[in-house]
Amino acid sequence: MSRADAVPGRHGPARGRTGPPDEVLVECRDAAVTFGQGAHAVVAVHGASLTVRPGDRLAIVGPSGSGKSTLLHLLAGLERPTGGTVVRPAPAGPRDIGLVFQSDSLIPALDVVENTALPLILADVPEERARRAALDALALVAADDLAERLPEEISGGQAQRVAAARVLAQAPRLVLADEPTGRLDHATGSRVLDALLMAADRTGAALVVTTHDPAVAARFGTRRTMRDGRLLAAEEAS
Ligand SMILES: Nc1ncnc2c1ncn2[C@@H]1O[C@H](COP(=O)(O)OP(=O)(O)OP(=O)(O)O)[C@@H](O)[C@H]1O
Ligand SMILES: [Mg+2]
Repeated sequence: MSRADAVPGRHGPARGRTGPPDEVLVECRDAAVTFGQGAHAVVAVHGASLTVRPGDRLAIVGPSGSGKSTLLHLLAGLERPTGGTVVRPAPAGPRDIGLVFQSDSLIPALDVVENTALPLILADVPEERARRAALDALALVAADDLAERLPEEISGGQAQRVAAARVLAQAPRLVLADEPTGRLDHATGSRVLDALLMAADRTGAALVVTTHDPAVAARFGTRRTMRDGRLLAAEEAS
């Protein structure tokens, strides 16, 4: 029996590939990002401190340009802090962190199902299995009918759903989604959000999203606001 079985989890029973209840997936300690130098320097994130554990549901809200994407990229390891530290106590494998990018991220030469399967292929999952997992994930975001199309043949909102499916297929322990509903109508956005939340519940993953939409943020247990690069204190859901 693992420690996760012996000790009731902080986040309820839905725990999949998880370790000890106090396990930390990623922690920012006073992490900062400054772009450029001298007079042109832009401080995108001022000393942010944040800990993400398995099962966490965190929404980062704030106006355009407040540093939400930069903070998410710090958590993903795509951006290095120019101040402070970002710590991942457990060694992150290639499939441990999945990022749904805010802007176009599909590979133009690959069709939708190939794009969705790519992280699995890169992780040496056999092609047929990767393809099936990709089609299942596309169905979750109502994009399976687009499987054979190229990125240039789909809309911006459809591309965003494919980017979400690509992370769902990968089933990482830490799911980071940068305004995953930003280009979607209400019904389609709800469907994508449902798919992300259900997948995270099933696998015990942590889910961190950025959003402008209060209705999206309301579905998350913890909400943090960013303003001018500063991460304000936590607002716990009642
Ligand atoms: N690569 C970069 N080089 C220089 N400045 C950057 C870079 N990326 C972001 N910035 C600046 O850092 C600040 C924060 O940007 P960021 O993309 O994190 O904001 P955001 O909250 O995600 O905004 P949005 O809601 O519009 O997506 C902005 O002032 C932006 O112009
Ligand atoms: Mg952004």
